[in-house]
Amino acid sequence: MTSMVLQPYEAALAQLAAADPAVVVVTAENRAAIRNLPGVLGERFIDVGVAEQTMIGLAAGLALRGRRPIVHALAAFLTMRAYEFIRTDVGIGRLPVKLIGGVPGFLSDANGPTHQAIEDIALMRGIPGMKVFCPADEIDLIAALPALLADPAPCYVRYTASPAVCPHPLPGQPHRIETVAEGDDVAILSFGLLVREALDARARLAADGISARVLSVRMPKPLDEAAVLAAAADTRLVVTVEDHLQIGGLYSTVCELLVRSGVRAELLPIALTERWFKPMLLPDLLMREGFTGAQIAARILERLDQPRGGNRVMRNATDPVIARSKSLWARAKQLIPGGTQTLAKGPGQHVQGVAPIYLARGRGARVWDVDGNEYLDMTMAVGPLSLGYADPVIDEAIRTQLGDGITFSLMHPLEVEVAELIRDVVPNVESVRFSKTGADATSAAIRVARAFTDRERVVCCGYHGWHDWYIATTDRGAGIPTATRELVSTFDYNDLDSVRAAVDVDTACVIFEPMVVEPPQPGFLEGVREICDQHGALLVFDEMWTGFRIALGGAQQAFGIRADLATYSKAIANGMPLSVLAGRADVMQKLERDVFFYTTFGGEALSLAAAAATIPELRRRQVPETLAARGHTLRQGFARICAERGIAWTRCVGMDARTMVAFDAASVDPLLAKSFVQQELIRRGVLWSGFHNLSWAHRDADIEYLIGCYQEILPVLADHVAAGTLAGALRGQPVEPVFRRIGNPPRPAKGAR
Ligand SMILES: Cc1ncc(COP(=O)(O)O)c(C=O)c1O
Repeated sequence: MTSMVLQPYEAALAQLAAADPAVVVVTAENRAAIRNLPGVLGERFIDVGVAEQTMIGLAAGLALRGRRPIVHALAAFLTMRAYEFIRTDVGIGRLPVKLIGGVPGFLSDANGPTHQAIEDIALMRGIPGMKVFCPADEIDLIAALPALLADPAPCYVRYTASPAVCPHPLPGQPHRIETVAEGDDVAILSFGLLVREALDARARLAADGISARVLSVRMPKPLDEAAVLAAAADTRLVVTVEDHLQIGGLYSTVCELLVRSGVRAELLPIALTERWFKPMLLPDLLMREGFTGAQIAARILERLDQPRGGNRVMRNATDPVIARSKSLWARAKQLIPGGTQTLAKGPGQHVQGVAPIYLARGRGARVWDVDGNEYLDMTMAVGPLSLGYADPVIDEAIRTQLGDGITFSLMHPLEVEVAELIRDVVPNVESVRFSKTGADATSAAIRVARAFTDRERVVCCGYHGWHDWYIATTDRGAGIPTATRELVSTFDYNDLDSVRAAVDVDTACVIFEPMVVEPPQPGFLEGVREICDQHGALLVFDEMWTGFRIALGGAQQAFGIRADLATYSKAIANGMPLSVLAGRADVMQKLERDVFFYTTFGGEALSLAAAAATIPELRRRQVPETLAARGHTLRQGFARICAERGIAWTRCVGMDARTMVAFDAASVDPLLAKSFVQQELIRRGVLWSGFHNLSWAHRDADIEYLIGCYQEILPVLADHVAAGTLAGALRGQPVEPVFRRIGNPPRPAKGAR
């Protein structure tokens, strides 16, 4: 006798049928899960016996007559025996038939091997228009039914009556991947009952210090691509776990996406590789086939431990082998004066003999040198990687633009669009111009300021690029006319008296970074603004570091001070070369004709496309806030170690998003100390040149790791300092100074022109 106590899945179908008279439940010899429904649905329950093919034709016909058939059969018979009918009648016709496949994948301990549906996803996903839904458990399945039924597309569903396997943050949204556990080292993508094993694997990996994100990929088709790309970007290994043949299932889907998106990721497929298995009780089966949490964790660990040709981000036993770096450097020295195009990247800033010299690739906050050694990168290309290497969103924007062209014979619409974006984000911007390098923008700012004020003198404070007027103030100013040097004066940051002494009625502008290391003292920025106004000089903020980083609107937003002109570049396009001069319309108006500022690549579209994608992402991912929080933790960690160890001669200083390690020259040789810390960090897989140039891709775990490294290194450094053995502790050549500022030249009497 039929019991009328409905099971949860039956109750869900009965409810849907009650709400919608078009719902029809159809079955072919698979009544176990719906044995109580005939009594509830009456004529709207149709059992066609063993004829799966006929059942599909019937369902298609009913759908054509406005019905919404929900069809049940054993997954293996449904997807294979009825395949041609599903493809032709349902798929190509895009009919709203829902196909529910019972005992899919491993879910059988009764039927023979021929009954195992282990290629069902491959078969169904190859059918035009067909969606594929693989719920993790019965709760997931039932929550998804209304959305699936409302969707006019045909859909194949892997039926499961499993009790809850995982939490469901997105109930009723079957098209979305559910992140059922967070993690940054490894991403485990799975579906169905194996999500439970993935979670078990995650717990075991945690014991080894590896954090795994677990994603329940409920729909391999259409795939929630953003979630997979984010997982590939955030982690160093993507693992797919499926009770399906490796070909055509989740692993294939992920591979196709990565190839199509041009994203590189390490992949580990855990699936059935072209063999049938003997059905048995599920726990035994999982064990025998290698799908228990413990076995999955072991395979992941094995993969992560595989020697990949070099040191990794860990406490390595030796310094990295850098043979290829060295041989490239030997060739460079024959041909490239100075060897490097960016001073901060050159060997002079790294311990020669220990540090890598050439990098081959990067992803997130990790880089790999040409010898295959992996590093956590704290330099991040000296600033431009605000989101991280190979960010999937930005790279996709660049690739899309690349398909249309890089640079053109007329202007490109992105010039207008990005200019508008900047105006909307940065305070006081009435006018915008683009160029390629920071030095382009600061040079243009000076020329515009000189033209606008009809004055020649410039007052500056820190680094602004390689061009004449700034480098003239340093000891590396050979080749710069004396006349240029005589037009530039310097002042000291946070010292208003030095600003007053430098600025007069001949000053065209004061240019400086609103903050580098020390925060502005109360009244300092306001004071400089006032001095400029008193003398009719323009105030120019060099916001290469502060722009889009300490706040989306940079220092003008963070400190509430108006600059007449501001320059930007790092951070705005996640590594693509783009710089910006922005500011007052009446000043910038000089660029209409009088001031010449044009260059072939000024409106190059790949960089503009990168900026158009980066600026909204900086806001969406709350990058300034995230960097500030992580930087704060790092600074506190450094301070705690120094306090605990009584080390008073080093500090982590600067803005939270970009701090640096400073050493007091009175107590320790800063270059030797920096070299020692650098060599020890390199041994531990961290690339560092004194700064923590944080990007969104640096994770909490990276910060913790770095603090852990300081915890080990600083006491040893202190011992060497105390014993006077620091120079001897270096395993290579110490880093070199960059350049020194030279004194201000004698100036003509104030007011003289
Ligand atoms: C504050 C500041 N201004 C200007 C520049 C020059 O930028 P670029 O090297 O792109 O010419 C830099 C470069 O590091 C900088 O840090």
